Amino acid sequence: MTLLFEVTQDAPETCAAPCLVVGAFEDRVLSAAALRIDEKSGGAITRLVDSGDISGKPGSTHVLFALPGIAAARVLVVGLGEIGKFDAARLARASADAARTLKGLPLDRAVSYLTELDVPGKDTAWKLRTAALASDAQAYKYTATFKPKPKSSQAEFSALAFAAPASAAAALAQATAIADGVRFARELGNLPPNICTPAYIAAQAQKLAADHPGVGCEILDEAQMRKLGMGALLGVAAGSANAPRLIALQWNGAGEAAPYALVGKGVTFDSGGINIKPSAGMEEMKFDMGGAAGVLGAFLAAVKLKLKLNLVCVVPAVENMPGNNAQRPSDVVTTMSGTTVEILNTDAEGRLILCDALTFVQKFKPAVIIDAATLTGACVVALGKHASGLMTKDDALASELLAAGEATLDRAWRLPLWDDYQSQLDTGYADVANIGGKYAGAITAGCFLSRFTEGFRWAHLDIAGTAWEEGRKGSGTGRPVPLLVQYLLDRVG
Ligand code: BES
Ligand code: MN
Ligand code: ZN
Repeated sequence: MTLLFEVTQDAPETCAAPCLVVGAFEDRVLSAAALRIDEKSGGAITRLVDSGDISGKPGSTHVLFALPGIAAARVLVVGLGEIGKFDAARLARASADAARTLKGLPLDRAVSYLTELDVPGKDTAWKLRTAALASDAQAYKYTATFKPKPKSSQAEFSALAFAAPASAAAALAQATAIADGVRFARELGNLPPNICTPAYIAAQAQKLAADHPGVGCEILDEAQMRKLGMGALLGVAAGSANAPRLIALQWNGAGEAAPYALVGKGVTFDSGGINIKPSAGMEEMKFDMGGAAGVLGAFLAAVKLKLKLNLVCVVPAVENMPGNNAQRPSDVVTTMSGTTVEILNTDAEGRLILCDALTFVQKFKPAVIIDAATLTGACVVALGKHASGLMTKDDALASELLAAGEATLDRAWRLPLWDDYQSQLDTGYADVANIGGKYAGAITAGCFLSRFTEGFRWAHLDIAGTAWEEGRKGSGTGRPVPLLVQYLLDRVG
């Protein structure tokens, strides 16, 4: 369950919560709320600043218990760093640090005064949304595949109030919808691939539609895809015992207007196929449905926000396995668009399922198509794990998406899609090859997709580096849900 968010106008000293959250900068500078608590408690915070216990360094947290003159049981002092460097990212960081500490305390709710801090260029609504989303990301805990624990009687952190005018509550309702979408995406990503199969993702989409009046859901099975001629998608699915699905969700919030279309790569496990991947790190390929999770999560948020626009969400869901019927390097498949593709590497499967999904989505006559895909290791080499790769020939669309990423700290960075790269996809045996050689792998993957979106406003997000955090305890991040939802929010004004 997403954290329950509220606003409060209580003064720090009289607010009777289990815990208050206030900030301390470096160099002995306290936030206004911290100062007020310090004053009313006879200098309880400055004593710890003087002793060096409270440094104000980013990442530091300090819990004070039962301060005299303060109604709240605890005061959590979070380090904010240097006052001159306090910015959007620092507010998100401090909120996350606070939530992580709160999660470990025996309490069910807290009141944060961090959103009273000045963030250059940001208004109260932005601060609330950012703090709420950063807090909820820390409060999320994956439990689905652990032995059920006996219900503990200890309180669990589940509600967070922010000091803000009552009129700011709308921003928190918005944050809740986005946080729900992020959680949905993270959970789907984290689930193991023996549970999160193409059929499972389809069932989740159907449930989403059943739970939300006004959402339409269509699921295509293998036979229906064959009828449509989706040879590239079916070629990827051929080696797997888990049959593919094509999911199409529709939200109608604006009458007859042309819809925005989101398309997400849903490879529930990418073994590489016959071009099998090395063992090390292969388990991370359960996250190869991060694009699907991201667009479904964004769709869910858009529906919860009842956005006044039309939206379609298309997810090709397959598993890439080296079964006895698997496709081979040198196979040639015919896509739904008629274009033929020579498979030169079965591990470049994302573009193969996306090309048919991108052709399919055109039947909705979308105004804009945005796809999200954990498409290339090359994108991670280029941009690392901080920015998603953005590729589009449409400069206006690029700046809108970059701005949405910037505003939500879910950033993307643009790579070129110049035609100069297209010849890397030439082959003597089909209209196009599915790999482009050793240079510019993220871009040649984008170039491949561009051949299936001609005549449409289209952008591609390569989220290979941003969709999850690496390691045994690494989790799905829910990116690019914040970017996508912000993009849609900006479209409705
Ligand atoms: N799902 C992978 C891309 C990937 C790799 C994402 C590592 C995140 C981390 C994709 O299907 C893939 O295997 N791409 C190949 C393409 C190559 C064969 C042209 C890659 O990036 O190596
Ligand atoms: Mn692959
Ligand atoms: Zn893949």
